[in-house]
Amino acid sequence: MLSIVHTVSPSIITLLIFACYSEVHGTSIKSLDMPHIVRNGTGPVDLICIYEIDKDDNGLVIKWFHEAYQIYQWIPPMLPQDIGIIKDFAEYPAENLKNPYSHSIIRLKTITIDMTGEYMCTISTFQYEASASAKMIVYVPESDMTVRTYPFNKTHVNLTCAVTGAQPRPSLRLYVEGIERNESSESSIDWHKDDPRVSLDVIIEDMLDPTVIECEMLIPDTEYKRRERIVYYPSSNRSNATDNIAFETNNFFVI
Ligand SMILES: *[C@@H]1O[C@H](CO)[C@@H](O)[C@H](O)[C@H]1NC(C)=O
Ligand SMILES: *[C@@H]1O[C@H](CO)[C@@H](O)[C@H](O)[C@H]1NC(C)=O
Ligand SMILES: *[C@@H]1O[C@H](CO)[C@@H](O)[C@H](O)[C@H]1NC(C)=O
Ligand SMILES: *[C@@H]1O[C@H](CO)[C@@H](O)[C@H](O)[C@H]1NC(C)=O
Ligand SMILES: *[C@@H]1O[C@H](CO)[C@@H](O)[C@H](O)[C@H]1NC(C)=O
Ligand SMILES: *[C@@H]1O[C@H](CO)[C@@H](O)[C@H](O)[C@H]1NC(C)=O
Repeated sequence: MLSIVHTVSPSIITLLIFACYSEVHGTSIKSLDMPHIVRNGTGPVDLICIYEIDKDDNGLVIKWFHEAYQIYQWIPPMLPQDIGIIKDFAEYPAENLKNPYSHSIIRLKTITIDMTGEYMCTISTFQYEASASAKMIVYVPESDMTVRTYPFNKTHVNLTCAVTGAQPRPSLRLYVEGIERNESSESSIDWHKDDPRVSLDVIIEDMLDPTVIECEMLIPDTEYKRRERIVYYPSSNRSNATDNIAFETNNFFVI
């Protein structure tokens, strides 16, 4: 009997403590509702901070931060104020302005590349403070992707894949007949936000037969992927005809 009492009582105590705790700390953030991945130039996109405010709490102030910089402040019943990356892009739905005690919505009319990064919502009252954060990645599709082959020496060829315009910095892979080749590869790290360009070269032994060469680009942390394919005609086979440096491309992407 004693053992039953012992096993039951800790959970009762826990429940009581939890009940007391949640009654006192009625102010809390339930969730941050925002997309994890968004394409540059699209919109509108809602950033929603969902919270609960204790009935007895006064002095509600809601703030949003982007990468530790404050971008928004709302002291109801005044209107929200915004600065920085969301200025001129934010709208505040009337329904939300009338009902500030459950959530704060920032409606971004158009997504810009600067909006990528971590967002934090904080709520505070005279007694309590709570915060929650979430990340949103803004990506830009490539403006160009090319796969080429260059003679390297008598026995080897240089396969290169170059991608421009994609952000954040994509990773590249080269496949020869479906098999990834990365030995003696050289990947260019010359990537800047203002001139986003990446390339990958792989030097491989020249082939005898026409060969499918494929480059895969993917933007990390997103589902954005793209493949570009060419058929390489080895020089021994190329010399015969004038019109057989044929190219076949096949692109697809997934978001
Ligand atoms: C992002 O989208 C905007 C609006 O469509 C466009 O003006 C801008 O050039 C884009 N940025 C990049 C880096 O592509
Ligand atoms: C061509 O380059 C490759 C890779 O550097 C090397 O292994 C090979 O010996 C070279 N071939 C000739 C004919 O120089
Ligand atoms: C392969 O070709 C590209 C394009 O011409 C060139 O930039 C790169 O340096 C070459 N790689 C090697 C290892 O020679
Ligand atoms: C090269 O590719 C193999 C298999 O595709 C992979 O296991 C390995 O990590 C890659 N190496 C580099 C340096 O990327
Ligand atoms: C040219 O390609 C064909 C197959 O497409 C191959 O059988 C042949 O050996 C190649 N010719 C040379 C000279 O390598
Ligand atoms: C190239 O020419 C050789 C010799 O004339 C011939 O045997 C071969 O089939 C030709 N290859 C192609 C791809 O036409």
